[in-house]
Amino acid sequence: MERYSEIIEKDKREIVLLIGNGCCWSKCKFCNYHTDRMTDNVKQIEINKKALSRVTGEFGVLEAINSGSIFELNEESKKLLIDTCIKKNIKRLIIESHYIYKNKIKSFREECKKLKIKLKVKGGIETFDDKFREDVLNKGFGRPTLEDLKETFDEINLLVGVKGQNIEQIEKDIEMGLGNFERVCINLYKQMEYILPADEALKKEFLNKIYPKYKDNNRADILIENTDFGVGD
Ligand SMILES: C[S@@+](CC[C@H](N)C(=O)[O-])C[C@H]1O[C@@H](n2cnc3c(N)ncnc32)[C@H](O)[C@@H]1O
Ligand code: SF4
Repeated sequence: MERYSEIIEKDKREIVLLIGNGCCWSKCKFCNYHTDRMTDNVKQIEINKKALSRVTGEFGVLEAINSGSIFELNEESKKLLIDTCIKKNIKRLIIESHYIYKNKIKSFREECKKLKIKLKVKGGIETFDDKFREDVLNKGFGRPTLEDLKETFDEINLLVGVKGQNIEQIEKDIEMGLGNFERVCINLYKQMEYILPADEALKKEFLNKIYPKYKDNNRADILIENTDFGVGD
């Protein structure tokens, strides 16, 4: 599993795929990334130390993800991450979190502010169609308002190509994302074992009709393959 990479297009940054205790929700019907988890504290620290030791600080920006939410790293791993940011002069740290942790996000923002690190939180909204997100994807967000989501997240993840989605909603999601958040990461759905089926025709339609409109947008990352950032497997 590759756990370090550099993203040299658009928002240039280094990225580490850390490992945590495991996603506390783990019930999204489109995701099995959460199986990348490690409850053995010593091994978790070992893996995270190795990934973080490769951070150079070249861009002053680091994205640290962990197949779950940042708050699921053990204390030592979280400390290693913060220490790396300080040592390598990271000015902006991008992390991912589920909405469940909105109070912890607030405190972490304060903690980072004191260290002069700008925290950017990326949330897996997936779609602004609440009914689809909750009844089909089982995201576990409940029904927060757009204002609640904007208060919690700076950037968002969107999902494209799950059976049941349609092209109009996908374009609406991207427009809403760009209109209300700083950056949008569009993930082409990869069907894996035990998760919802993909709509391959819809993915093709997205690539033909929508992808060309946004591919050069500096505020949109589009992951056609889930390894396009250079981490994962
Ligand atoms: C693995 S989650 C981690 C962050 C956090 N747990 C959350 O849900 O916001 C990050 C993103 O990966 C994307 N993702 C999950 N499963 C996927 C799949 N099968 N294919 C493509 N993208 C996927 C979703 O857009 C999700 O928001
Ligand atoms: S998408 Fe995020 S919250 Fe949902 S199961 Fe995967 S890691 Fe957990």
